Amino acid sequence: MESYSDIILDHAEHPRNQGDLPGANARGYQMNPVCGDTLALSLRIEDGRIAESRFQTEGCTASVATSSVITELIAGLTLDEAMALTHEDVSDAVGGLPTSKLHSAALVIDALRRAIGSYRLQQAG
Ligand code: FES
Repeated sequence: MESYSDIILDHAEHPRNQGDLPGANARGYQMNPVCGDTLALSLRIEDGRIAESRFQTEGCTASVATSSVITELIAGLTLDEAMALTHEDVSDAVGGLPTSKLHSAALVIDALRRAIGSYRLQQAG
């Protein structure tokens, strides 16, 4: 059986930036079709950069840890930089994911892209 890295366990036990973000101006919700885990990601975008983010995840250890890590990865990034992040970047940031949990990285990337995509639509409208 594959085990979790120390980074995953640390983020799962002590999640960073968990909860709602009342001042959010971008939100992305994603359900993983593989397992049903969900992530609601809230962002506060200021001057084209991600100033703040929070997550609310219903799911396993890996999805909580990757949700927590994505909030650290995106802090201060421009929207283009955040959109360029990949599943591999998330997996690398948590010290590698067990094969059976690789889809948790897809969950957080998809939620992030949805949040930024909806923000851009709203700005364009
Ligand atoms: S069981 Fe699928 S991401 Fe958690």
